[in-house]
Amino acid sequence: MKLSFSEPGLPKTGAVIVCVGDGGKLSATARQLDKATDGALSRAIKESRFSGKKSQLLDVVAPGGVAYGRIVMAGVGKGLNEQDQLALGGRLYAHLNQMGVKAAQVALEATGRDLSEAAANVAHGAHLRSYRFDKYRTQEKADTKPTLRALAIRVKGAAAARRAYTPMEKIAEGVFFTRDLVSEPPNVLYPETFAKEVKALTKLGVKVEILGEKQMAKLGMGSLLGVGQGSVRESKIAIMRWDGAAKSQQPVAFIGKGVTFDTGGISLKPGPGMQDMKWDMGGAGTVSGLMKALAGRKAKVNAIGMIGLVENMPDGNAQRPGDIVTSMSGQTIEIHNTDAEGRLVLADVLWYAQQRFKPQFMIDLATLTGAIIISLGHEHAGMFTNDDNLSEQLMKAGLATGEKVWRMPLGDAYDKKLNTDGADMKNVAGRDGGSITAAQFLQRFVNKVPWAHLDIAGMAWSNSTSPIVPRGGTGYGVRLLDRFVRENYEG
Ligand code: BES
Ligand code: MN
Ligand code: ZN
Repeated sequence: MKLSFSEPGLPKTGAVIVCVGDGGKLSATARQLDKATDGALSRAIKESRFSGKKSQLLDVVAPGGVAYGRIVMAGVGKGLNEQDQLALGGRLYAHLNQMGVKAAQVALEATGRDLSEAAANVAHGAHLRSYRFDKYRTQEKADTKPTLRALAIRVKGAAAARRAYTPMEKIAEGVFFTRDLVSEPPNVLYPETFAKEVKALTKLGVKVEILGEKQMAKLGMGSLLGVGQGSVRESKIAIMRWDGAAKSQQPVAFIGKGVTFDTGGISLKPGPGMQDMKWDMGGAGTVSGLMKALAGRKAKVNAIGMIGLVENMPDGNAQRPGDIVTSMSGQTIEIHNTDAEGRLVLADVLWYAQQRFKPQFMIDLATLTGAIIISLGHEHAGMFTNDDNLSEQLMKAGLATGEKVWRMPLGDAYDKKLNTDGADMKNVAGRDGGSITAAQFLQRFVNKVPWAHLDIAGMAWSNSTSPIVPRGGTGYGVRLLDRFVRENYEG
């Protein structure tokens, strides 16, 4: 779909979208069209429930007096904030496709204080909603395929809107990269092919380094390697570097769980629903999409993305419950459940990231526990952190982008539950507070550095569509962390 911005003015044909405020208050363009159509707009409002509330849409089809096939009235209430503007774009996109519209123009008025920013947000929202993962659908009928090819935003200050939109487009490309990765099936996307996808970021100026099992063994990563031991696919670590700031600036680091398929291993998961575990690489997907976004918009920051890529399979050579492995940190871990594998992968990646790069902070993302879905559902990621400052910054970025986080507790009493007689720790501590003990496990591999862990098990995938996120891989976290970086660590 082609998105464009131009100065106000009415198109000759196609569909036109006009804004209507609370109480059916017509914008200037809406008034003009109402006149030209002999009052068709006001009559349509009277004949319906439409009252100009935000999120409402009302169509006037083939009205007399004008050449338009369709006039869409979009409710803007008392004005729209950033989230509303994105949602308006998303809803318009979906609506126009539903109606089979091929080209449309939005007369953007009275939608917020900064009209250029609003226009960019509407376009961004439409773009984010337009994502589709359909490469494996060979028999889809034309009548369910999207029709909208061009959406033009007519707004005062079109040049400023275009400028505001430029970085947003790059961020969306990052989101789409994450959604693609999360959506790919596990026979196509496994550690080696995931690493190859990431390698393509080189084109944007990202430096990419891939470690294989030999190199990881040399580094002493017994914890990560144990997880991949039952798979015929070689485990990998991908290290991405975006150097957008002065060399003297310490990097920020993002770490991702990239379990390309999680069967549970010998502690095998039940069959029903297991296909969902293709998106157990969601954390790594988000880190990769974030790096693409940062590089795409040339963020003034030095950022490291590091992802641990493994497949957790049962096999004659697989890790057993009872095994004791030695992590890169030197700490030993007794495996009590091979399905608690994400923490084992992250233990070595977190350790390596902090030793090698001495980052300002580390943030890890992981589809780590089913328990976080019980706690928070699909509205917030669980946030665990040793740093109040990071907590505040992430919380704020979450509210600004709509990709929300909710802080969860850490504490010694939880940590103790990981102690065991045979080794330095075990990898599970029972069902109670399962997301917290998982976070405590990770914290044992974090030294003094500020650190936050985001448990995104409830966020990486969605079975229902929302205004800017079609169902499927959500790309959650890319917009959140991009904003977090922009607001706090650039310049
Ligand atoms: N990948 C799962 C967590 C998960 C569950 C993500 C559902 C998304 C949806 C993780 O590796 C796992 O299996 N966790 C176990 C931990 C348990 C064995 C302590 C869990 O949540 O049941
Ligand atoms: Mn698991
Ligand atoms: Zn897992």
